[in-house]
Amino acid sequence: MKVEDKKIAKLNVISGKSYFFCQCGESAKFPLCDGSHKDTSHRPEKYVATSTTIINVCGCGDSKVTMCGCA
Ligand code: FES
Repeated sequence: MKVEDKKIAKLNVISGKSYFFCQCGESAKFPLCDGSHKDTSHRPEKYVATSTTIINVCGCGDSKVTMCGCA
């Protein structure tokens, strides 16, 4: 499944913890990277949570940033 086919993914994050978001759309753990990008030109995007909360991760492919602004 390509990133364009993905929808917004809600994710619980913990303040200070690092997360790596899938940018290739191949991860079985979307929105998190699972290493499936290995044979693509994509690399995961690192995100460090600034608070413990639920975030919306963009899955539409239109946004150049991880955090979704259309929710
Ligand atoms: S699995 Fe998609 S960027 Fe790593």
